[in-house]
Amino acid sequence: MKKEEILALFQEYEQVACEVNQVECWSARDLQKLLGYSLWQNFTKVIAKAKEACENVGQNLLDHFIDVNKMVELGSGAFRSLNRNFEIHNKTVFDMRYLFLLLTGLVLAVKTWAQSANYDESLVGSYVLPDALTTLDGQKVTDSKIWEKVRRPEIMSMLANVEYGNLPQTPVKTTWRTVEESDNALGGKALRRQVEFTFSGNGVSRKMMVLMYMPRGVRKAPVFISPNFRGNQSTTDDEAVIASQYSEYSRSNQKSRWPFEKIIASGYAVATFHYFDIYYDKRDSMSKSILPVFGVSDAAGLSPSTGKAISAWAWACSRVLDYVLTLKNIDKRRCIVMGHSRLGKTALWAGALDKRFAMVVSNNSGCCGAALSRRNYGETVGRITKAFPWWFCDAFCAYADRPEELPFDQHELLAMIAPRLVYVASAQEDRWADPRGEFLALKESSKVYALYGKETMGDEEFPEVNKLLWRGQMGYHIRSGGHDVTDFDWDAYMRFADEKLK
Ligand code: GCU
Repeated sequence: MKKEEILALFQEYEQVACEVNQVECWSARDLQKLLGYSLWQNFTKVIAKAKEACENVGQNLLDHFIDVNKMVELGSGAFRSLNRNFEIHNKTVFDMRYLFLLLTGLVLAVKTWAQSANYDESLVGSYVLPDALTTLDGQKVTDSKIWEKVRRPEIMSMLANVEYGNLPQTPVKTTWRTVEESDNALGGKALRRQVEFTFSGNGVSRKMMVLMYMPRGVRKAPVFISPNFRGNQSTTDDEAVIASQYSEYSRSNQKSRWPFEKIIASGYAVATFHYFDIYYDKRDSMSKSILPVFGVSDAAGLSPSTGKAISAWAWACSRVLDYVLTLKNIDKRRCIVMGHSRLGKTALWAGALDKRFAMVVSNNSGCCGAALSRRNYGETVGRITKAFPWWFCDAFCAYADRPEELPFDQHELLAMIAPRLVYVASAQEDRWADPRGEFLALKESSKVYALYGKETMGDEEFPEVNKLLWRGQMGYHIRSGGHDVTDFDWDAYMRFADEKLK
């Protein structure tokens, strides 16, 4: 953006300033127009990003943003509802300029970013996938024995060393403490238990709180282990649920993604934890993550193949599994790891690493989850490694602009789960996650499932929206709607497990 354009925008920006309680403010509605957004709904996303950026640079959000629907006290003692508007305060000229530039920069960056992603199937181009069934020295894998002995370990080691990274092999002491429990939760249908995990090593310790609901009266329940985005309290309106340490989200804020009543009524147990407990999902957060427990406190302690956030979250899923396997009312043979989006990538990696998971569910996991990296559609390796470098090991970033040279592709991650149950789910409007790329990866992983004599997706066409496509150990659907976890998804996973997980 040219200097003159910035100055012109800056003047317009000053013109729309107003004053509330002697504090200079900007109405988000005015900013919306100024920055060229016709839809309020779209602008709220920009504001959310600005808030995030503000937090990332250590600014106090309350100094700058007064939130939606709050009644703001005016000088006279009267109150005025700001309705859907909220205001950006400035205390100093520096703050104002800073926020202004932040917003302008963000708008431009987000626009350029979104516009330059490819959403045109005819522009995807051709690509050649690495053959899951050819070993590094060129041998053909013809049966499940060679697969397990030679090829699977080869691929595991590439995924670990080049994409998600390894966590150091240092001993971590884990202890569990039941902090709260009730045998009368969810209207008397469930047992609730909240268990604090303490992980210690290298002179430091970290805590993670696991929230479990288990169906009452079920002798051996299957269980979904699934991390949550916004804190345990955000998953439910159950007042007894303890708020997660790193979350400020309100109770039941993301409840729609966690239909506990339905899960319990279907005879399933569920165990969830806030993923921030393990790795605070922001740039430069390594020191407060679990990594120091493994002896890695900063970038200097990393090797190119040291795992970071995704590996840490996946590791935590296995620690929850360790615990769950000690419970008498849980069926050890029916433990499922499930995750959405970045946590869907995590669930796949956890399922690849830990064969005790009998079923693995990827909900809209997209790039570096179920979607093929070689397909230039939606999010790409270049974009993800620039935006979220702390999710992967450093070696992966070297492939940012040359995914075609990766020694693997994501169908091989899915193949790591064979012959166990795998379910990949996409959403029609979630083009960023490349639904077709997710399906094609699953289809390609069929070759490995076939080694076990299982029915596969090998000959299937991309299914119609909202049709469940289940073949042998593999499940897929693309539902209508956007990037989310819905009842449709949960119903599909539970029905699939009812039928296949015996
Ligand atoms: C971003 C990111 C995706 C990720 C998603 C999520 O959109 O680019 O890779 O899956 O966040 O976790 O919600």
